[in-house]
Amino acid sequence: MLDLFPDSTSVDGGQLSIGGVRASELEVAHGTPLVVLCEETIQARARALRQAVGDGRVFFGTKALPNVAVLRLLLSEGIGADVASSGELAFARNAGLGGGDLVVHGNNKAEVLLAEAASVGAPVVLDAPDEPALAAAAGVRQALVRVTLGVDADTHEAIRTGHHGSKFGLPPDQARAAVSEALDFGLDVMGVHVHVGSQLADFDAQAETIVRLAAFVASCRDELGWVARVADLGGGFGIRHHPADEVPEAAELAASAATTARLAFVEAGLPQPEIWLEPGRCLVGRAGITLYRVGSVKRLPERTWVAVDGGMSDNPRPQLYDARYTALSAARTDEPVDEVVSIAGMHCESGDVLIDDVMLPSPRRGDLLAVPATGAYTLAMASNYNGVPRPAAVLVRGGSARLIRRRETIEDLLRVEVE
Ligand code: LLP
Repeated sequence: MLDLFPDSTSVDGGQLSIGGVRASELEVAHGTPLVVLCEETIQARARALRQAVGDGRVFFGTKALPNVAVLRLLLSEGIGADVASSGELAFARNAGLGGGDLVVHGNNKAEVLLAEAASVGAPVVLDAPDEPALAAAAGVRQALVRVTLGVDADTHEAIRTGHHGSKFGLPPDQARAAVSEALDFGLDVMGVHVHVGSQLADFDAQAETIVRLAAFVASCRDELGWVARVADLGGGFGIRHHPADEVPEAAELAASAATTARLAFVEAGLPQPEIWLEPGRCLVGRAGITLYRVGSVKRLPERTWVAVDGGMSDNPRPQLYDARYTALSAARTDEPVDEVVSIAGMHCESGDVLIDDVMLPSPRRGDLLAVPATGAYTLAMASNYNGVPRPAAVLVRGGSARLIRRRETIEDLLRVEVE
């Protein structure tokens, strides 16, 4: 189970530590729920992914964790950002990213986002039939075209994107027309983009997509005399959230993607493309754990409920994607796990169950629970359901913790109310 935790995790005297800082000290200093991110783990994943793409480029899928300190840390590792809204763009700009560090996405980009992309000089991934015209009118100079190649990835249907009928991208004929139109508008069409889905546990769907992508680029060469310089293969590399999950390391999947693309382009008689990747989850997912405090414990004939001070407002993934997590009693790691329990959230909804069943040392009020592999798409999708302020986040390293997002307050929530 500790192999789901960040690289710097240790246990000593029953106490879990991340980055040399005890979970129980973090609880005292920052309260719960608390997202704890390990800087070393993010850095190691960043370096491994950069190595996997060789002379290609890596852009962080900002949607996985829009945080200025994390974006800045990744930038210092040579990683840019994929942004899909003005808000995400603002996070990236605040972290010091410039136009060349960015890729702008969205299946329905606001005109203001296109104008911002133009003003910072960021390439835009065209994703609708009229977007070449809109982008050109907004002053965008560089573009890619997102093509949807009809590959069904083996992942939850809500995070599948490369199938026919997807709301993302354009099917080959329309994508080719978009390339042609963008060229007519004088845009520098740098290349093509695909993203097959998220939380992919193997390379099959991406491999098939890449082969179809090379054929698509060859058809553009034949029909339009245009050749892509960039093959942006999107993100999607999965991570393990639960001890039963089997997922290869993202860097292995990324290296396979880059190699397959280079080969597929050569075989289609095309020049070598520059490979771009947009990983989100695999850069920050395993780096993060969430700490919760146990409140009520109800031992019913049907099951034992252990309620924590968060739930679907800080991690809606169990409800949205049937995601399975596990937990560790962070100040009792030396005690035998002797009870099977369900971890309930504190929200007014029966479906607010964080973990269906997990073995813990007989839980009691005041215990500290650590849920691993929660660095991606948790804080990013957090809500204020039940008027609950969103959690704080700290970055830990070498025995110290740095607050990188303060806990929301109830005053923050009231500030936007208009009477
Ligand atoms: N590039 C594009 C164009 C994307 O749409 C996404 C994710 C990524 C990159 C990054 O994908 P990643 O490497 O993180 O899988 N909320 C869902 C995940 C939604 C992913 C949306 N797009 C979840 O919690 O599983």
